[in-house]
Amino acid sequence: MRNILLVLLSAGLAAAEDGLSGWLRYAPLSCGRSSHLSLPQTIVALNTTISSPVYTAGQELQKGLQGIFAKQVKISDQTTKSSSVVVGSLAQYIKATGNSDVPSLEEDGYWLSVKGDSVQIVGQNERGALYGAFEYLSMLAQGNFADVAKVSNPSAPIRWTNEWDNMDGSIERGFAGPSIFFANGVVVDDLTRVAEYARLLASIGINGIIINNVNANATTLSTQNIRGLGRVADAMRPYGVQIGISLNFASPQSFGGLSTFDPLDASVIKFWTDITNQIYQQVPDFAGYLVKANSEGQPGPITYNRTLADGANLFAKAIKPHGGIVMFRAFVYDQLNESDWHADRADAAVNYFKPLDGEFDDNVVVQIKYGPIDFQVREPASPLFANIPKTNTAIELQVTQEYLGQQCHLVYLPPLWKTVLDFDLKVDGQPSLVRDIVSGERFKRPLGGYAGVVNVGTNSTWLGSHLAMSNLYAYGRLAWDPTSDAQAILQDWIRLTFGLNRIVVDTITKMSMDSWPAYENYSGNLGIQTLTDILYTHFGPNPASQDDNGWGQWTRADHNGLGMDRTVSNGTGFAGQYPAEVAAVYESLEITPDNLLLWFHHVPYTYTLHEGKTVIQHFYDAHYSGAETAQTFPTLWEGLKGKIDDQRYEEVLFRLKYQAGHSIVWRDAISEFYFNKSSIPDQANRVGNHPWRVEAESMQLSGYKVTAVNPFETASNFKAVVTSSNTTAGTATAKLNFPSGTYDLAINYYDIIGGRARYEVYLNDKLVGKWTGDNEDKLGHTPSTFLDGHSATRITFGGVKVETGDTLKIVGTPDGTELAPLDYVAVLPSGVID
Ligand SMILES: *[C@@H]1O[C@H](CO)[C@@H](O)[C@H](O)[C@H]1NC(C)=O
Ligand SMILES: *[C@@H]1O[C@H](CO)[C@@H](O)[C@H](O)[C@H]1NC(C)=O
Ligand SMILES: *[C@@H]1O[C@H](CO)[C@@H](O)[C@H](O)[C@H]1NC(C)=O
Ligand SMILES: *[C@@H]1O[C@H](CO)[C@@H](O)[C@H](O)[C@H]1NC(C)=O
Ligand SMILES: *[C@@H]1O[C@H](CO)[C@@H](O)[C@H](O)[C@H]1NC(C)=O
Ligand SMILES: *[C@@H]1O[C@H](CO)[C@@H](O)[C@H](O)[C@H]1NC(C)=O
Ligand SMILES: *[C@@H]1O[C@H](CO)[C@@H](O)[C@H](O)[C@H]1NC(C)=O
Ligand SMILES: *[C@@H]1O[C@H](CO)[C@@H](O)[C@H](O)[C@H]1NC(C)=O
Ligand SMILES: *[C@@H]1O[C@H](CO)[C@@H](O)[C@H](O)[C@H]1NC(C)=O
Repeated sequence: MRNILLVLLSAGLAAAEDGLSGWLRYAPLSCGRSSHLSLPQTIVALNTTISSPVYTAGQELQKGLQGIFAKQVKISDQTTKSSSVVVGSLAQYIKATGNSDVPSLEEDGYWLSVKGDSVQIVGQNERGALYGAFEYLSMLAQGNFADVAKVSNPSAPIRWTNEWDNMDGSIERGFAGPSIFFANGVVVDDLTRVAEYARLLASIGINGIIINNVNANATTLSTQNIRGLGRVADAMRPYGVQIGISLNFASPQSFGGLSTFDPLDASVIKFWTDITNQIYQQVPDFAGYLVKANSEGQPGPITYNRTLADGANLFAKAIKPHGGIVMFRAFVYDQLNESDWHADRADAAVNYFKPLDGEFDDNVVVQIKYGPIDFQVREPASPLFANIPKTNTAIELQVTQEYLGQQCHLVYLPPLWKTVLDFDLKVDGQPSLVRDIVSGERFKRPLGGYAGVVNVGTNSTWLGSHLAMSNLYAYGRLAWDPTSDAQAILQDWIRLTFGLNRIVVDTITKMSMDSWPAYENYSGNLGIQTLTDILYTHFGPNPASQDDNGWGQWTRADHNGLGMDRTVSNGTGFAGQYPAEVAAVYESLEITPDNLLLWFHHVPYTYTLHEGKTVIQHFYDAHYSGAETAQTFPTLWEGLKGKIDDQRYEEVLFRLKYQAGHSIVWRDAISEFYFNKSSIPDQANRVGNHPWRVEAESMQLSGYKVTAVNPFETASNFKAVVTSSNTTAGTATAKLNFPSGTYDLAINYYDIIGGRARYEVYLNDKLVGKWTGDNEDKLGHTPSTFLDGHSATRITFGGVKVETGDTLKIVGTPDGTELAPLDYVAVLPSGVID
């Protein structure tokens, strides 16, 4: 029977969902309509070995058909002519069926043929077969029952994630709880989450993972831990995900007890050869090493006057006989002195690596961050991609939002990544898109690809935020096919994660597509970088932190202007690292695009952009528009109540409200900072003018005292109040002189780590609202112990009736070192954002 009539279950909304299954929910299709559907009656998986990806594919198909259609389908290893889905590698398929009519496939690629209830999924290898099975299930889960016959091959052989997990279980730049891999210096016993993670990764075509921090600890190499690596590899192997580790260059000395870690020393070579052999005994399909050397205090070959290539080749030679590879990070730079106008950290990668082109072994891949600095909100493509044609390269992207809101701000990243992947570097005047360079195609390199820093944690949401998972999903999809459309990928993810409801899809699409432009608007504009605090937590605003230190992320903002002069003619010369046609654009103030103006040029605040505004007015306008956009997110989301499960609805709403409040902190801090620098007022008179605010320091205080905030611009009117004692509550009182009406009461306070202060707000002694300063329990971002742009937080109580002359009172009860800090109260008429 070819066509089975299947009445789709009109299932009610699923019970609470905690996010653990990510986009692989296989939720019942609840279209409320019936369809003529023919689904396979049998699953034929052509390998019965439990650890094989083809066996996994069979299990996954069974689980998917059960979940999506409530249809129980049995798995067999015998091919049958009728109604079946056959999954296997090309070799297995030919052997089992005798058919050799499969189109030619590249490594890890697959062929998917769906004709009604007859489905063939054939991988070039077993992993490819699993990818094809996930693709078929993705179609079904999205209600796509079309017949297809398609070949899909990956763009590049390396599609890895990097996890910056430390051996003690903490994660550098991780925002979702501790490690799923390590605790207390060793690999954890229970690897359930590791296998679940491998499943998610396989479903988006990821084939490798580096499981420990690039700032590596040599104890990863202990005998016990190498055995642990064996267990991790066993947990991930059924999903075709191969593991690798980061190495600490000094291990021969710090861990091996040798007197040196000189890469050319015979004892050092022997050390690494032995370690590598031990690892391959435990992990025969070990993928390779990741090395961060001579970077940010890490040891490396330069300590011994050896080149970075000597350092990389040391590992390459040890791992070559086993078929492994070495990912060598290009993130090498030195401390610099800002008083030197020509000094530039952005220059460093090309200066270090270009002279070494051709000297790296063929199993070394230089791993290059997308931009020349460090995962900023906008950067030009790293010029290193254009400068080492005789070297394998990979692009390093960051899924974890280190500088971009740490998963407490919704920022859908693929549109940012695409500015680099789709950029044409025009090497030798030929089309040279970054994506074609890292795939290996442009320079005919055998290896290349993608490294995405993900940093999942034990939190059931994996990344701390349900919506942030779109970035992980899209990372895999883009590594597979960087020509895919960022919005189309997003919509697949939405349907898989939240269902097919049109309003749900449209709403999350709108918010997500607005999110990166909004974040750029309310953080740093015109190529000036993110303007987050680079010296502390990389989260909230602190533009001054970029300058007057050796890190080289300078803005050179003074009273007249800002921006880095990176021209050849008068600046750092960085623009000249690009091929001629690109260099000519960046060299010229007139034709550099507005969105990278301050990356390449130092201009007065009064410089007029192509768009017609001055630089300073653009800063003000962008910050106000960006924060305004962020205010729309919670409102849009509220339209989804009842259309998705309550748990995810509430958890996302909490974060979107937080973001809306923090975007105002950003807006005000950056606008005030540059107003203070430039003394040029906002033409629209918004900056420094807050008619609806009551400053805490101007309220009548009892048990509270006024304090300065650092940086100054992260407090409204540059001041806040804290309780005078750490045991006794304080009160701040004010008479409200606004016209009688209904208002939203927004209270800006500081939520530091170190206590959970309690707050109550009263109008004429009637309680309007209360809360606890406990965001350290709810938001995974790096906390702050200070009153600053990281801890500054807004909470809003809507629809409050206020009469002229009413008394507003806030009672703050300190806890620990958190002295119930308050900044201001905004009494907001409907539609006003202040
Ligand atoms: C089945 O899978 C196992 C484990 O991956 C593998 O060793 C074996 O070669 C596979 N069998 C076939 C026939 O491909
Ligand atoms: C390396 O890991 C060990 C064991 O967890 C720990 O004692 C040590 O402090 C770590 N070293 C560094 C530099 O983090
Ligand atoms: C590296 O070279 C510098 C200058 O040539 C020299 O002063 C230094 O001693 C050398 N260091 C080592 C470890 O060989
Ligand atoms: C930077 O250079 C200036 C001018 O040469 C010098 O006065 C200053 O001490 C240097 N700063 C540092 C941190 O080296
Ligand atoms: C996940 O993290 C959120 C916020 O950080 C927290 O509220 C929640 O309890 C965590 N859940 C789990 C299962 O760890
Ligand atoms: C050229 O560089 C100097 C610093 O060496 C700087 O003061 C000046 O503004 C620059 N001139 C132009 C036209 O950018
Ligand atoms: C960003 O700011 C610009 C300039 O004010 C504005 O035109 C644009 O709509 C804003 N975009 C978002 C998403 O906030
Ligand atoms: C800039 O801030 C300082 C306080 O740090 C203040 O003294 C000065 O008046 C401010 N300037 C402007 C223009 O706001
Ligand atoms: C409270 O303040 C006292 C006096 O400054 C100090 O000794 C004590 O450690 C503080 N307690 C807490 C919990 O911070």
